[in-house]
Amino acid sequence: MRIINVKDYEEMSRKAADLIAAQIILNPKSVLGLATGSSPIGTYERLVELNRNGVIDFSHVTTINLDEYYGLDPTHDQSYRYFMNKHLFSRVNINMANTHLPDGKAKDIDAECRRYDDLIESVGGIDLQLLGIGHNGHIGFNEPSDEFIPGTHCVSLSESTINANSRFFKSRDEVPRKAITMGIKAIMQARKVLLIASGEDKKEILKKALFGPITPQVPASILQLHKDLTVITPLDI
Ligand code: GLP
Repeated sequence: MRIINVKDYEEMSRKAADLIAAQIILNPKSVLGLATGSSPIGTYERLVELNRNGVIDFSHVTTINLDEYYGLDPTHDQSYRYFMNKHLFSRVNINMANTHLPDGKAKDIDAECRRYDDLIESVGGIDLQLLGIGHNGHIGFNEPSDEFIPGTHCVSLSESTINANSRFFKSRDEVPRKAITMGIKAIMQARKVLLIASGEDKKEILKKALFGPITPQVPASILQLHKDLTVITPLDI
């Protein structure tokens, strides 16, 4: 594991974007695993800038997002599809057909989960996976549980996740109770993993995830076993 200590959120975002840019420059056909939440917004901002300046070209890049709320239409302003279009896809020269998220409106959830796993396999897996971390140690929406769940699955969101994410909705009642998330296997099989975390409220869980016991009760702790994990954080851990 490589920990890069930075000054603040801005530097974290710049460094994360620079590593993603390097990945795209080295392999223009890269498959990027992408994340949502407030952590990666600055990273996407910087990627947009690098694309605008001609430093990176997204035209051959494929993206696979970690997760999507179950029940939200892609046009809903809190859906992760909407988030990705707004912060990245509509602002860079990516081919929209190469951008993928689970379908939150799928009628047959099991079939949708299988489709997503098949998709990840068909593009040859993920070259670089960007991750944030939830306050309870979740990655994507892999919530604390009694076991690590390998494949894409539908998950009931924990109370703490619903509370944390209610800040984006008009009221707590509007927060979807379920989500479809990529499983631990695709994340761990990514050839590189880049974890970003900032804000004092993430300090304890980040420490636990990186230096505590490896347990499905702290899903991010499995990243300790990843061969190419880079953590970028302004936190003193
Ligand atoms: C969300 C997402 C995660 C994200 C996490 C932290 O619920 N499903 O992928 O990493 O919570 O979000 P934030 O960066 O806003 O703290």
